Amino acid sequence: MPIIKRIAVFASGNGSNAENLIKYFNDHRETAEVALVVCNRPDALAPRRAEALGVASVVMSRDQLNDPETINGVLTAHGIDFIVLAGFLLKVPEFLVDRYRGRIVNIHPALLPKFGGKGMYGRHVHEAVVAAGERETGITIHHVSEGYDEGRVIFQAAVAVSADDTPADVERKVRDLEIRHLPWVIGSVIANSDGE
Ligand code: GRF
Repeated sequence: MPIIKRIAVFASGNGSNAENLIKYFNDHRETAEVALVVCNRPDALAPRRAEALGVASVVMSRDQLNDPETINGVLTAHGIDFIVLAGFLLKVPEFLVDRYRGRIVNIHPALLPKFGGKGMYGRHVHEAVVAAGERETGITIHHVSEGYDEGRVIFQAAVAVSADDTPADVERKVRDLEIRHLPWVIGSVIANSDGE
């Protein structure tokens, strides 16, 4: 029986993707399990969603997240093999990108390289897509490298944007794609990384 991979989900806010990943891997425990939710905001919903599903969560400040001893200690203590950033708004420190290279993935709510980079997160992305008159948008799941939203793309899915779509309409369409695709894409990255 292979050792089950243990995932940490980093989230800063609502945590709907974190919750979705926890539920998915509860039904796919042969591949992995979500063992920890890391959040940088004490008032965020993400840690509470984790606890409601019996998953450990830890709230860490920016300084703690940037301190190798602290964040590495927490991830090692929880036996974390893989990191998913889902709505995580801080820049991941380089030492962490190094430690988890090839095993740290981000989901961005647009079709990178368009509408990516610093400041492009959450509602801002969808507002920019509508303002630009885009006819489609989508999600990008990619490996995390040193720069914002620059790592190798793993998966993209697109959805049409109609002329009368508001940013809220676009957000809803994109969220549907996230909920539908993020878990199985993470599962396949982990399943394919076995034995490396
Ligand atoms: C999602 O739109 C995700 O693509 C982006 O931030 C949002 C997180 O939402 N990175 P949630 O906190 O998972 O609900």
